[in-house]
Amino acid sequence: MTPLPRHLLPLTADVIGGRLHVGGCDVIELADRYGTPLFVYDEVHLRERAREAVAAFGDGATYASKAFLCRAMAQLVAEEGMGIDVSTGGELHVVLAAGTPSDRITLHGNNKSVDELARALDIGVGRIVVDSFEEIDRIEELVAKGASQPRVFLRVTPGVEAHTHEYVMTGQDDTKFGFGLASGAAHEAVARVRSSEAMELVGIHAHIGSNIFLLSSFEKAIERLAPFVLPLALPELSLGGGLGVAYVEGEEAPTITEWSGVLRRSCAEHGLTAKLVVEPGRSIAAAAALTLYRVGTIKELPDIRTYVSVDGGMSDNPRPVLYGSGYEAFLPRATEAERPLVATVVGKHCESGDILVRDAHLPADLVVGDVLATPVTGAYGHSMASNYNKVPRPPVLFVRDGDVRVVVRREELDDLLALDSD
Ligand code: LLP
Repeated sequence: MTPLPRHLLPLTADVIGGRLHVGGCDVIELADRYGTPLFVYDEVHLRERAREAVAAFGDGATYASKAFLCRAMAQLVAEEGMGIDVSTGGELHVVLAAGTPSDRITLHGNNKSVDELARALDIGVGRIVVDSFEEIDRIEELVAKGASQPRVFLRVTPGVEAHTHEYVMTGQDDTKFGFGLASGAAHEAVARVRSSEAMELVGIHAHIGSNIFLLSSFEKAIERLAPFVLPLALPELSLGGGLGVAYVEGEEAPTITEWSGVLRRSCAEHGLTAKLVVEPGRSIAAAAALTLYRVGTIKELPDIRTYVSVDGGMSDNPRPVLYGSGYEAFLPRATEAERPLVATVVGKHCESGDILVRDAHLPADLVVGDVLATPVTGAYGHSMASNYNKVPRPPVLFVRDGDVRVVVRREELDDLLALDSD
């Protein structure tokens, strides 16, 4: 019923005559000019969050590029002083193409291939987060063949269940990631790496999950890790990412500064003095962006439901389908309007599950042709976009002080044929 909560909009959001402006640009004009669907990122917002992370964690602040990555984003976080983590050779390729210094890159992955490891060693990657005994073997083989000796973290699973969706929980014993503390695998991995000439162990890494709202989940992880980490006396400790963000009305998430306060206090309480490393992704990028769509059809089923179809869907935001994630919707021409109409916002894909917002609140005068927006789509939207149904992926704009940068262009129909053999 109520208008869209302002705190879900990017930092520079401004409402002029009801119309939403971000980065000094009228977003409806952006939709008219660049087409829809369209990702619009507030560059000031991205930089503010990156600065907050650097103020809180110094050069231990590392951006998790899986949340959203293109060359412009890699350059932006580097300019603000963040390192960057990549979880595949593909992310590594993009980050290198952006000119990121190798020593500011951390390589993750539970199944890194020999080729991925070889490239990382070749460029002198800053850190490798070692995830398995097979990976230790692979690094040893590569170093024996002449590759340079990497600095490594060991990824440990502390056996805590963070309060979040099952698919994005990673700290529990039953997980594909890392070396379990409870099973003794973590102790064995430390012994192996310490006795290896091929790598230098600089720290322990633990990432317990994503979109975590309760800071006590992190405290629990630190409590579990401390007895293991303390005697190792390593110079660094990485606590991963995972800080939650508010997506819908009524949700409130801790800030990066609050998160850092809790992590630091808890580490101090347990006598942990190693340099803290964190890898926030969502909390840097999510609220910086919104997605703009154009309404194409409105189907009213009396006493059942109203369907509002837009020109994107599960291909630009699979999160509602994958995790049942909630989003708000609003009309940027009437940003502060009451939203008494309850409707289901759906995409244009050929399946009923293609839902963007199940029970969206929208203004009653919604019409076909309206630009409809979903806020907080800056993380795990574009990065998880697909070409399902051969729908071209949307472009990404960075807006700032009235200037627009197309940092990712719209996919063209011919791009859909680019990989086919003749
Ligand atoms: N570090 C590691 C080792 C990770 O696996 C992740 C996320 C992060 C850092 C960043 O976490 P963040 O601060 O963004 O929560 N696609 C899912 C999220 C998957 C997260 C995977 N790992 C979603 O859309 O909710």
